[in-house]
Amino acid sequence: MKHRVKFEVNGEAAEIEAEPRETLLDVVRERFGLTGAHAGCEHGACGACTVLVDGAAVRSCLLFAVQCEGRSVQTIEAFGTPAALHPMQEAFRTHHALQCGFCTPAMVLTAIDMLAHSPNATETEIRAALAGNLCRCTGYAGIVDAVCSLAGREPVDS
Ligand code: FES
Ligand code: FES
Repeated sequence: MKHRVKFEVNGEAAEIEAEPRETLLDVVRERFGLTGAHAGCEHGACGACTVLVDGAAVRSCLLFAVQCEGRSVQTIEAFGTPAALHPMQEAFRTHHALQCGFCTPAMVLTAIDMLAHSPNATETEIRAALAGNLCRCTGYAGIVDAVCSLAGREPVDS
């Protein structure tokens, strides 16, 4: 039986009918076309599906859409534009923090959440915060450098 879910997706009010088994990942990708949330392992191991729910980074493959009633969901599509990147996206570009890009939306969102709550995070803290997001390409050095470059500044949550 489907349930009505009212929530906010990238700043817009939304209302859908969802089966209780439908994940937030499937909903943002298939109903809203927000394909920056990537389906990697789909069992909570890789972090590629990360989105923000009420500002906190979560694995959208582990959350049911019906659990998002009344919540605010943000995907990478809510941050920056090709002409005006978000500071975290700019830092990733500057520090060569991506190769194939599969992990990148989730890495950026995880880093945004992390610095919003710990703006002066140390490199050790940044590495710990990113440990749940797997990257098969970069070796992580560029990613850590990118996030470290913004630590100690104003929170980058907008
Ligand atoms: S796809 Fe969700 S953690 Fe891997
Ligand atoms: S840039 Fe390819 S998986 Fe991270």
